[in-house]
Amino acid sequence: MSLTAIAIVDAHGVIGDGERQPFEIAEDWARFKKVTSGHVLIMGRRTHDAIGRWLPGRTTIVVTHTPDVVQLPSGGTADGRAVASLEEAIELGRSIDDEVYVAGGGTIYAQAWPLLTDLDLTEVHAEAEGSVRLPPIDPADWVEVSREPREGFDFVHYRRR
Ligand SMILES: NC(=O)c1ccc[n+]([C@@H]2O[C@H](COP(=O)([O-])OP(=O)(O)OC[C@H]3O[C@@H](n4cnc5c(N)ncnc54)[C@H](OP(=O)(O)O)[C@@H]3O)[C@@H](O)[C@H]2O)c1
Repeated sequence: MSLTAIAIVDAHGVIGDGERQPFEIAEDWARFKKVTSGHVLIMGRRTHDAIGRWLPGRTTIVVTHTPDVVQLPSGGTADGRAVASLEEAIELGRSIDDEVYVAGGGTIYAQAWPLLTDLDLTEVHAEAEGSVRLPPIDPADWVEVSREPREGFDFVHYRRR
C-alpha cells in the first residue's frame, strides 16, 4: 500500500506562489495523468479550486473544513469526495485503492510528509517565484530509487528508507 506525494518542484523545492504551479510542462501533465489514472488523489481545497474540475478516470478526495459545500461530480468518469481531515482522506483513499497519491498543495504535503511512503517528483532545473515549498528531502529518510532525465527536468522517485 503506497502513499505517494506527486509534485513538480523547482531547484529549491518551490511548488507554487499560493495560486498557481510554477511550471506548465505538457510531458509532466501527461505523466501525471498516466501515473494517477485509476487510483486515488488527495488534495487540499485550494488546489482543487485551482484545477477547476474533477479529473476524469480517478477518485479525487478534497480536504476542507467545509466538506458539505463542495460540489461533487455527477456523471462522467470522475469520482469525487470531500472530507474534513487528512486522516479521513487517507483512510478513505486506502479503502478505495492500494495506490494513493497526495497532490498538494503546500499544507497537504506538509501534513502528509511523515506518513508518505514515496515521492514522485518532477524536478525542474530552474528557479521559480513563490513561497510554497515541499518539506526538505532529508537523505536520512529518503533514498532516490530512479531518475529519468529529460530536457530541463528529471522525473525522480524517492522511497522512504
Ligand atoms: N507544484 C505542484 O506539484 C503543486 C501541486 C499542488 C498545488 N500546488 C500549489 O500549491 C499552492 C496551494 O497550496 P496551499 O497550501 O495554498 O493550499 P492547499 O494545500 O491546496 O489547500 C489548503 C486548504 O486545504 C484545506 N485543509 C488543509 N489542511 C486541512 C485539514 N487538516 N483539515 C481540513 N481542511 C484542511 C483547507 O481548506 P478550506 O479552506 O476549504 O477549509 C485549506 O484552506 C498553489 O500555488 C498551487 O499551485 C503545486
